[in-house]
Amino acid sequence: MIKIQIPATSANIGPGFDSLGLALRLYNRVWMEECGDIQISTTDGTDVPHGEDNLIFKTARFLYELCGKPLPGLYISQENNIPMTRGLGSSSACIVAGLLGANMLLGEPLSKPDIVNLAAVLEGHPDNSTPAILGGLTTAVLQENRVYSVKVPISGRLKFAAFIPDFELKTEEARAALPEQVKHKDAVFNLSRTALMTASLFSGRLDNLRIAVEDKLHQPYRLRLIPGAEEIFTLCDKMGAYACYISGAGPTLMAMVNVTDISFKTRAEKALAELPQKFRLEMLDCDETGATVELCGQAE
Ligand code: HSE
Repeated sequence: MIKIQIPATSANIGPGFDSLGLALRLYNRVWMEECGDIQISTTDGTDVPHGEDNLIFKTARFLYELCGKPLPGLYISQENNIPMTRGLGSSSACIVAGLLGANMLLGEPLSKPDIVNLAAVLEGHPDNSTPAILGGLTTAVLQENRVYSVKVPISGRLKFAAFIPDFELKTEEARAALPEQVKHKDAVFNLSRTALMTASLFSGRLDNLRIAVEDKLHQPYRLRLIPGAEEIFTLCDKMGAYACYISGAGPTLMAMVNVTDISFKTRAEKALAELPQKFRLEMLDCDETGATVELCGQAE
């Protein structure tokens, strides 16, 4: 039996559309082994596809076929802690689980960089799949099926407050809201802030985050798809967060706060209770390790 653990991820981090992402200490776990048919279950009652359309199974089978081996069948047990379709990298987690698990079952024909490349090609955007595998903060470019990336640790003085709404938002819908073209000055606005965000998170210049998080390429168009988002931005500002942004394609909103602000959660939850939209709040640390895969005795 093989056990894979994959972190949640938060992509874009404001201005870094389709390029920046970071891993969070919120994990899905998957147990996997070859068997004669498809046996898929969850440990937590989450509703997942139980047949060939299961994303973990589909991805594992893809890798088997790529390596020239038919997949006889697979036992998959999933523990889902990353909320689905909420902008926290749940699809990436499935793809990474399928690739890492199948790779180990096949005797590790693929290197880690191979897995990073394949995951980005299958997922479509390297800003979720790359930090899910490598951990930390990653900046990634997908060019002709290859990911050019750098992973860096981030300041240990930050905590991430994930405001997770009770509704889903599909990435396709959030991408369909974006304009085909943007102004040159808006592109410059974002690229200067993307560079500032990366350098500031890495070096711990937290005073820069308020400006570094600004974005003109995707968030202004996506806000109307997320009822309550404007209120969360205002709330985070009032509560003294360094910055707030739409996590990935949304609908989760992510705030960056100082680890010493131990009352943030209580204060924010009190304010959340006054809002008509329902959000739950999870305080998360950055994951610096990325996905892990190991042999284990049996599924938990
Ligand atoms: N960068 C992507 C987006 C993340 O914002 O659409 C979703 O995978």
